[in-house]
Amino acid sequence: MNRRAPATISPSEITPEAVFHDRRRILAALGATAIAVAGPSASSQAPAASTGRPPRSPPRYTRNTRWSSTEPPTAYEHVTSYNNFYEFGLDKPDPKANAQRFRTDPWSVEIGGEAELSGRFALEDLLAPHALEERIYRLRCVEAWSMVVPWLGLPLGDLLRRFKPTSKAKYVEFTTLLDPKQMPGQRARVLDWPYVEGLRIDEAMHPLALLVVGVYGQWLPNQNGAPLRLIVPWKYGFKSIKSIVRIRFTEKQPQTSWSRSAPDEYGFYANVNPAVHHPRWSQAKERRIGTGLLATRSDTLPFNGYAAEVASLYRGMDLRRHF
Ligand code: MTE
Repeated sequence: MNRRAPATISPSEITPEAVFHDRRRILAALGATAIAVAGPSASSQAPAASTGRPPRSPPRYTRNTRWSSTEPPTAYEHVTSYNNFYEFGLDKPDPKANAQRFRTDPWSVEIGGEAELSGRFALEDLLAPHALEERIYRLRCVEAWSMVVPWLGLPLGDLLRRFKPTSKAKYVEFTTLLDPKQMPGQRARVLDWPYVEGLRIDEAMHPLALLVVGVYGQWLPNQNGAPLRLIVPWKYGFKSIKSIVRIRFTEKQPQTSWSRSAPDEYGFYANVNPAVHHPRWSQAKERRIGTGLLATRSDTLPFNGYAAEVASLYRGMDLRRHF
C-alpha cells in the first residue's frame, strides 16, 4: 500500500475548500491537536516512489497481549489469498487477483447521524490521534472455516466516542465504497450494493471491536479490506465489513447486506454460536485454514472463544431468535 504520511498530506487536496474548513473546525472540536504529533514523522519517510508520492512509512504499533489469542497465527499467504470480498469476485482467490489496482489513497470517511459532531475526514486525519495496536484474533466464517490473524488497528469505540454520539444513537451502520468501475463484483447484482453492516452501540463500543488498518505488521493489502475495515472477533466474518467509507450512528437497527439478501440464513447479530446452525453449514465444528484438508476439525466455541468478554452483552436475549 502506498499511503502518504499524515504530516505530508494537504487536506485541501482531498476536499473542497469549504468542506475542508468545516472539517478543520470539527477536528479541533474533536480534540485532534495531537494530529501532528501522533502520526509517523515526515522525516522517517522513504524517498518518493514513481507515482511522485512518498510511500507511507510502515505502521508503528505496540502489541496488545491482553486481547490477543495465544494460538499460532495462520500464515500470511493464507490470510491474504483466501478471502471473501464479493466486490472483487466470489471465489476465495478472486479478491487477491482482482483488487491489486484498487485505489485506496486518498481515502475519506464520512461520519454522521445521531452524534454531536459529524463530517467527512481524510483517513489520515481520522487516525492520527490514535495509537495502533497489534491484536491476534480468531476469525470464524459462517462457512465453517477459521483463521488466527495478527491485525493492526485501534479500538472502534475510541474513535466513535470522539464524535459524541447522542442518546438516540442506538446502533452504528457501516458502508463499503460503491465504485463499480473499480470493483467488478458490483457490476452484478449478487448483493444489493454497497455492502452495509451494523452493530448495536454497546457492541461497537466493546473494547474487542477493532477498526483495522493493517495485518502482519503492514498496511492492509487491498483484498483484506484496505484501507479501513472492521473486525468483530466474536461474530461471523461477514460482520467484519471492508473498505469502509461511511459510519453512521442510528436510532433504528440498520439493514445489513446479508440479512437483506437471505434473512433466514444471516441474522443481524451473527454471534458465533455452535448451537445455532446455518441452513447450509453446521456451526458445531470448524476447519482451520492452512492446516490441510485432512486436519481434524475442532469444536467451535460460543462467541468464537470470547464468551467471557462479551456474553453479558446478550443477557436475557434468545440467541436462537436473534441469530
Ligand atoms: N466486506 C465487504 N465489503 N464485502 C464482502 O464480501 N465479506 C465478509 C467480510 N467483509 C465481505 C466483507 C466475509 S463473508 C468475511 S468471512 C470477511 O470479510 C473475510 O475477511 P478476510 O478476507 O480478511 O478474511
